[in-house]
Amino acid sequence: MQIFKGKHEIRDFISKCKALGKRVGFVPTMGYLHQGHLSLMQTATKDCEVVVASIFVNPTQFGPKEDFSEYPRDFVKDCRLLEAQGVDALFYPEVQEMYGDDFSTWVEVSGLGDSLCGKSRPGHFRGVATVVTKLFNIIQPDSAYFGQKDAQQSLVIKRMAQDLDLPVKVVIVPTVREKDGLAMSSRNVYLTPEQRAVAPVLYSSLQKAEQMVAEGEREIKKLESMVIDELAKHKDAEIDYVEIRSLPNLEKSDRLESFSLMALAVRFGQTRLIDNIILEV
Ligand code: PAJ
Repeated sequence: MQIFKGKHEIRDFISKCKALGKRVGFVPTMGYLHQGHLSLMQTATKDCEVVVASIFVNPTQFGPKEDFSEYPRDFVKDCRLLEAQGVDALFYPEVQEMYGDDFSTWVEVSGLGDSLCGKSRPGHFRGVATVVTKLFNIIQPDSAYFGQKDAQQSLVIKRMAQDLDLPVKVVIVPTVREKDGLAMSSRNVYLTPEQRAVAPVLYSSLQKAEQMVAEGEREIKKLESMVIDELAKHKDAEIDYVEIRSLPNLEKSDRLESFSLMALAVRFGQTRLIDNIILEV
């Protein structure tokens, strides 16, 4: 695997691949890779002849009180995992390479990026949309791969690519979970053993909602309340939000119609975990 820290160097590499007629797949990450990330790489490998990953802990998507400086990192292990996965190139820029000294242009997806996680993390999706636009411009991939685990992020990026006519196909890959149902996340390492033992309740409560829908429940308030009650049984779990929104526009309504996203965010101490499920009627 070739590692590039400079945007011009990786661009040269990509240009050469494209000149040979190769399809380029791109998987942006913030590193500390796990099986969830690797499933994106696997999907990319099936679709494309050249797979490029990036590791960049993007400061502009973290709030002032968030975990940017403590975000977990393990570059050596990440490289080993990427090599084993057959990734061809890694873009690993410094903050200076991406933002320079006087960065002042932002990409904001209004509406979609304001609710759910956007409400509790103001500016988060602006940071994500901006860095992903920059990465798309640097890498110029044919396809880019994102996880359903971050459902709102995936919707924001799809909309952004559509609205800005970015010539990239955005592919969404299913959530990869631990055996007990907890969605894999780089942040799971922050959990204490006690919090880790409780954390599978995020997914099990979503599954209960899915079961209620299968049994005929259509009232959104009832489904949300059931999940809130399930989570509230655990005093360690502080609910940030539990919401059902329409897909793909994340609008509120009273009753389930066709496809909806049930999403939640829960804090265990300083650690904020998210999960979601798609409800279909
Ligand atoms: P990061 O949290 O490292 O995630 C990188 C990609 O992996 C995202 O598309 C995310 O949805 C996906 N992913 C994470 N956990 C997953 C799981 N359990 N199953 C499936 N996919 C999973 O998301 C980001 O980084 C950043 O916001 C980024 C897009 C790189 C922009 O900075």
